[in-house]
Amino acid sequence: MTIGVGLLGLGTVGAGVASILTNPEGRHPMVAELALRRVAVRDQQRSRPVTLPPGSLVTDPLLVVDDPAVEIVVEVMGGLEPARTLILRAIAAGKPVVTANKAVIARHGEEIVAAAAEHGVYVLIEAAVGGGIPIIEPLKQSLGGNRIQRVSGIINGTTNYILSRMADEGAAYADVLAEAQGLGYAEADPAADVEGGDAADKIAILAGLAYGGTVSRAGIATEGIDRLDARDVAYAAQLGFVVKLLAVAEHVGDNADGSASLDVRVHPTLLPTSHPLAGVHGVNNAILVEGEPVGRVMFYGPGAGAGPTASAVVADILNIAGIRKVSGPQAGLDPLLAASRWRRCTLVDGSRTSHRNYVRLRTRDEAGVIGKIGTCFGDAGVSIQSIVQFPGHEGGAEIVTITHEVLEARFRDALAAIKALEEVEAVAACLRTL
Ligand code: NAP
Ligand code: HSE
Repeated sequence: MTIGVGLLGLGTVGAGVASILTNPEGRHPMVAELALRRVAVRDQQRSRPVTLPPGSLVTDPLLVVDDPAVEIVVEVMGGLEPARTLILRAIAAGKPVVTANKAVIARHGEEIVAAAAEHGVYVLIEAAVGGGIPIIEPLKQSLGGNRIQRVSGIINGTTNYILSRMADEGAAYADVLAEAQGLGYAEADPAADVEGGDAADKIAILAGLAYGGTVSRAGIATEGIDRLDARDVAYAAQLGFVVKLLAVAEHVGDNADGSASLDVRVHPTLLPTSHPLAGVHGVNNAILVEGEPVGRVMFYGPGAGAGPTASAVVADILNIAGIRKVSGPQAGLDPLLAASRWRRCTLVDGSRTSHRNYVRLRTRDEAGVIGKIGTCFGDAGVSIQSIVQFPGHEGGAEIVTITHEVLEARFRDALAAIKALEEVEAVAACLRTL
């Protein structure tokens, strides 16, 4: 039995998918049953790294979605529109969809999931988070018996590649970003990577699956690595930490109406070198899932790039093809695979959460400054774990403090008092610490 596949996009990911579908030897026999029927691109004249079936390349995506020979639509074009409209059109036509597009799922997932349920089709998104790492299926199915306490991880390959090269070789930020773009890791607009938006899309998706409800994408506190100073990476290393862009979704408690209260955020974070995520380098991603009763499970692997992402896309296509094989196209939806929502999720006010912090201050270099800073922290009820002075600009000092875990609101009070000290020129950096 052959199943017709239509591809929307033949860029980094699309070409990777086409390359698997057109070279099935040595893979699972069902790959040979997937026939690439139509492929949409913007520029039909551009040379492509893969040989397609004759006549399959088009520039009108509707020719893919509406082609009766296309039974599964694979959306790997990216962006919000026309991707959203094309996904909804495929669903309305009763065609299952596979997508790697986290931006569209994080923002329009609720609408897409509802449409898919109404029309009885699957929308599978394994490639949307973690590139080649299987994390979506485990959260939906293998870990379904758990109460999930926390999902945290490094889920943007581009920024992890940049941070690793900066830390290991002192490489310049702009040079490494250009390299990551050349390797096909970065988004079409790399601001999504470096400003943290891509990781926020992904943690919204993971939290939605872990906690069974839609998470407001707009409500996720997001900070990227674009304003990170190389000095903080270097100071962190001297203090026994590595800096990583971390995405976290944590179950804080349940509200009176039964909805789950979550703390979901993305920010550069100092990790002790002994932390399991500290050793994740280059384009690799890793996701730690903490649940009851399973404990701590870590998923690790390449988080971006053509091959790893195509591996995840094809896994989803095979999942759908396998179900069709045994149950036919009109079979009902498996609620686990379809990721049906089962509760509401709300986000907590960040000022009511607690964290450890790293603060770098630019100060005058004179007697009593560290004492005054310590007093500001103490008066606000912030306990200090360590305070170190580094040589600063001429006549000045850089004072780095690491706090114990403290309520964010208290920490902000302490910072306000520190900023008001005449000896303090600037709060130069403020980072979360694990
Ligand atoms: P890409 O290299 O920019 O490829 C996009 C493809 O879509 C291109 O072939 C482009 O045509 C085509 N396209 C875009 N808009 C179109 C339109 N309106 N009509 C027809 N064709 C259109 O992007 P990518 O890196 O493969 O990423 C694709 C998706 O996968 C994105 O959602 C991304 O977030 C996601 N993703 C990417 C990675 C990764 O490592 N790159 C990993 C996981 C998920 P032309 O070739 O003619 O320009
Ligand atoms: N731009 C993304 C990243 C692609 O670097 O992680 C994988 O989703």
